[in-house]
Amino acid sequence: MTLSTPLTSTSCTDGPVRLVATAPVALIEIDNPPVNATSQAVRAGLLDAIQEIERNPQIQAAVIACAGRTFVAGADIREFGQPPREPHLPDVVNAIEACSKPVVAAVQGTALGGGCEIALACHGRVLDPGAQFGLPEVKLGLVPGAGGTQRLPRLVGLEAAMDLVSSGRSVKADEALRLGLADRISGDDLRGDAMAFARELVGRPLRRLGELSAAGMDPEAAARKVADIRRKARGAEAPGRAAELVLLAAELPLAEGMARERETFLELRSSDQAAALRHAFFAEREVTRVPGIEGVEPRPVQKIGIVGAGTMGSGIAVAFADAGFDVKVVETDAQALAAGRARIADVYERQVASGRLAEAVRDERLTAVSYDVGLAGLADRDLVIEAVFEDMEVKRTLFRDLDRIVRPGAVLATNTSYLDVGAIAQATSRPADVVGLHFFSPANVMKLVEIVRTDATAADVVATGLAVAKRLRKIPVVCRVCEGFVGNRILTRYRQQAEYLLEEGALPHEVDAAMEAFGFPMGPFAVSDLAGLDISWARRKRLAPTRDPRERYVDVADRLCEAGRFGRKTGAGWYRYEGGRREPDPFVTELIEDASRRRGLTRHPVSVEEIQARIRAAIVNEACKILDERIVERPLDIDVVMMHGYGYPAWRGGPLFEADRVGLKAILDKVNERAGRDGPGWEPAEGLVSRAASGGRFYS
Ligand code: 3HC
Ligand code: NAI
Repeated sequence: MTLSTPLTSTSCTDGPVRLVATAPVALIEIDNPPVNATSQAVRAGLLDAIQEIERNPQIQAAVIACAGRTFVAGADIREFGQPPREPHLPDVVNAIEACSKPVVAAVQGTALGGGCEIALACHGRVLDPGAQFGLPEVKLGLVPGAGGTQRLPRLVGLEAAMDLVSSGRSVKADEALRLGLADRISGDDLRGDAMAFARELVGRPLRRLGELSAAGMDPEAAARKVADIRRKARGAEAPGRAAELVLLAAELPLAEGMARERETFLELRSSDQAAALRHAFFAEREVTRVPGIEGVEPRPVQKIGIVGAGTMGSGIAVAFADAGFDVKVVETDAQALAAGRARIADVYERQVASGRLAEAVRDERLTAVSYDVGLAGLADRDLVIEAVFEDMEVKRTLFRDLDRIVRPGAVLATNTSYLDVGAIAQATSRPADVVGLHFFSPANVMKLVEIVRTDATAADVVATGLAVAKRLRKIPVVCRVCEGFVGNRILTRYRQQAEYLLEEGALPHEVDAAMEAFGFPMGPFAVSDLAGLDISWARRKRLAPTRDPRERYVDVADRLCEAGRFGRKTGAGWYRYEGGRREPDPFVTELIEDASRRRGLTRHPVSVEEIQARIRAAIVNEACKILDERIVERPLDIDVVMMHGYGYPAWRGGPLFEADRVGLKAILDKVNERAGRDGPGWEPAEGLVSRAASGGRFYS
């Protein structure tokens, strides 16, 4: 950008940064689709533009704005695998802050990461009412790398900055204004308002955050806060490191703080955790591109029918109402319908009570849902989702009825957790229109949806599932039919292996602690108690007649259920609960010891490493069988399911990404070690054996 001095109303374009000089306030426009990331050309263009503003006597102030739907959404994540190229973002933001003429950021969409840091370096910030501000670097295993940890606390204080930087949470425009992150919220002319603000700043002393100092914090309180952040991060490295950097803002001048920040940024950028989280970021987007479905037109969907308003049906109804669909919920009788209606109202009441939802919005959402007894009112629906009891005959009867009632061309979906979607579809005269839409509990919160296609499901029905998931802002993973699909099938192996560990010498709290140390939010036994032991008990009873008698079967969970211990809801399960806290229970220990005796095992201590390695091997082996059987197309489908549905730590990148790092040979050795002892079903997956033998990987 070599614009020479006299400029009137002219524009100078150089790559993705344009300088539109309408003197006295120049507009620097970044135009780098899709999200205006600060790739090298943007950094260079911005630096040139600032130098030109400094040089040009006709320009008295400048506004940095972005083309398209968003302000700069951060560094270009695709560049992270490559060596950094000049100019570096810290130099660019420092040049903006040092500019002798006022520079104002006009923010629409999301100012994230490097985008937020550019805005913080400006002398003023005007936000569109829908704009968001945030430093999400920790979600990529990083700390902010261009002054975010140093300028933010100088503006909002150490404590608020530690919260924002370590959580990666974004704030909306009104909160940004409250925190002092935004100077103004614009009306309907963001750029005009930012220009006017820039003009007001001309001739006034400029507020450069780097020149301010952040007020200190009591050292003990600060240490407690960092420790708390580390604990909540469950093994992720970046949040704690980011919080420590924020504290430096009260101790060091900007340049020194930024040097320390940059050092940490570059160190973490090449870490395993950052690589895993980058994989997670792109995998989450890649899952929606399904071979054979791309380009297929989805069916139009606006009217939703939900059958069954229990735990899942009510959550699914809320998810659709939140996304602006017209929802009708049906139940078998008035009493069940009233209970479902109360459940839905309760979700909204809690959101209002916690301040997350305005009363007016609640009312709008509640009126989007209508209620009926019986199926007749579903005739005009575009998509019907059933969430009735997990029983094949109940579901087949229901689908036979839906087939008679619902208009031709509608999509009929089941939320079954385990059952054969193909067999359910065969109860209708239109199996091509039937698909599994497997939501996770609570359905209005959990992001994952498994889209289960049968051999008969039409491509445009799968495309409709993907399109609907996108409108719900969920993460869909397309898979084929098998018992438990992707996630619950792997979970079954996870739980079985955890139970084998009990028989051999571990106790539930030891297995849970090991898996929580691994990074899962909760261990397998604590999760079972939360979900309710009765659900899997019913399934085990269903499968009992077909169970291979040679299979190693631990009956402790059955005996807990026989004793009426269904988990938290009955006050006892794998643990007993006192004041909401889980406590190991001697009753359970006795059952486990008895199981060991009956199996003829001498109990012995099991190390944390052994627990983790065995469970990891069980997960990877089953995941590989799912790949071998072509239940999913790609390893990333499985990683996304495990991270978003089951709490597999994202900083490990999901089980298959991590398996590549750990080494497939080591995992296969563990699988082989167990295969002989744990019986049928535990044989190594063919794909694991062949990859380990050839030095192959799940990801090239
Ligand atoms: N770099 C490169 N590509 C990016 C990107 C980035 N920072 N952010 C988004 N993209 C790409 C996505 O991969 C996607 O590409 P695709 O269409 O080929 O799949 C496309 O942009 C659109 O993204 P989304 O599908 O996610 O679009 P949404 O509208 O749903 O969300 C968003 C937009 C909120 C900006 C979201 O993409 C997002 O959160 N991006 C990441 C933001 C981020 O983490 N920034 C910090 C980066 S680290 C940093 O800045 C370091 C600094 O401190 C030095
Ligand atoms: P639930 O027992 O809480 O609710 C089922 C509801 O369906 C009840 O309100 C019942 O009155 C109603 N119902 C039964 N038959 C009906 C019919 N013919 N017509 C209309 N309504 C009918 O069960 P939950 O937990 O909501 O599970 C529902 C389905 O979702 C099951 O298939 C389950 O496997 C699946 N699922 C459950 C998850 C969970 O965490 N609970 C997670 C994901 C899927």
